[in-house]
Amino acid sequence: MTIFPERVFSGIQPTGHLHLGNYLGAIVKFVALQETHECLFCVVDLHAITVAQDPVELRKAIRRIAAAYIASGVDPVKNIIFSQSQVGEHAELAWVFNCVARLGWLNRMTQFKEKAGKDRENVSVGLFAYPDLMAADILLYRATHVPVGEDQKQHIELARDIAHKFNNDFAASIVANGHDGPFFPLPEPLIQGPAARVMSLRDGAKKMSKSDPSDFSRINLSDDAEAIAQKVRKAKTDAEPLPCEIAGLAGRPEAENLVGIYAALVDGSREDVLLEFGGAQFSAFKNALVEVAVAKLGSVGGEMRRLENDPAYIDNILREGAQRARNLARPVMDQVKDILGLIR
Ligand code: TYM
Repeated sequence: MTIFPERVFSGIQPTGHLHLGNYLGAIVKFVALQETHECLFCVVDLHAITVAQDPVELRKAIRRIAAAYIASGVDPVKNIIFSQSQVGEHAELAWVFNCVARLGWLNRMTQFKEKAGKDRENVSVGLFAYPDLMAADILLYRATHVPVGEDQKQHIELARDIAHKFNNDFAASIVANGHDGPFFPLPEPLIQGPAARVMSLRDGAKKMSKSDPSDFSRINLSDDAEAIAQKVRKAKTDAEPLPCEIAGLAGRPEAENLVGIYAALVDGSREDVLLEFGGAQFSAFKNALVEVAVAKLGSVGGEMRRLENDPAYIDNILREGAQRARNLARPVMDQVKDILGLIR
């Protein structure tokens, strides 16, 4: 039976503004996992081009994600930080997975339905096949754990389905090629925590998103202390004081969101936050929230800007990261080719 050593893979698209949802849902987990696991953190630029991108902006955005990783405390020596397009094996394995995944599976992807909207006939084929590339990202490194926000859960489930089908369809060839069990692990999503789904500051029913036209809907990683304070103070709330227990958050999405954000920022639980602030008015709670948000994010934005002003440094990290990633990816891709019956 194959034993897969624990390995972490995750990625962020270089599109729009990096925000508090990306930070709490993903990056904070990366920073913690680097202490215990071998990790690869990718800038998924091939996913970004599934929709139209301005080439000049895209190049900046790729560097900005790498800068955000490093500014948040992801160590580029200890971990592999790289961009997806610099390791050709991602696209190579994605093609194989296009041939493994079923049309019906992809038709069920809610994120595709949301993104394509009514204009389904006019979106790129890449947008539809997006989850196959994501499965390739993860499985190319036979990664076992994938830290992501709640919105990526369905995509990771699809990656598991693809891994399972590949293992089954090619079971005999996998054994014939010297493996004594499944070739791909079934990767586990790491989603837990109070900020797995950070909502818009303007509407507790909408996810905080890079593409929301209202800048007041999100706290950007690049925001300075003043902008953070302004956005938190303007955040939508209701008229009641904060409840003392979790049950009291039911039907109060904005309150629930701010409590979850606070909890995640102090690395605590929502219960602890309500123990401290239950009965308080939002004005007082928001002051405390500004304080913890600025303490945690204030330095990240500044460091990101400093790194973005040194593109040669970032490009060098990406180039070295890609080399290290390729050293892991190539043997896996070669084995996949052998298993499929392709000649190399
Ligand atoms: P992306 O670029 O949309 O988001 C990057 C990460 O941020 C998380 N996230 C959130 N978490 C909590 N609350 C929110 N409002 C919020 N918004 C975004 C996302 O869940 C994600 O973890 N398809 C992926 C990128 C990707 C990937 C991968 C991830 C490509 N290949 C392989 C993991 C493994 C995406 O578009 O994430």
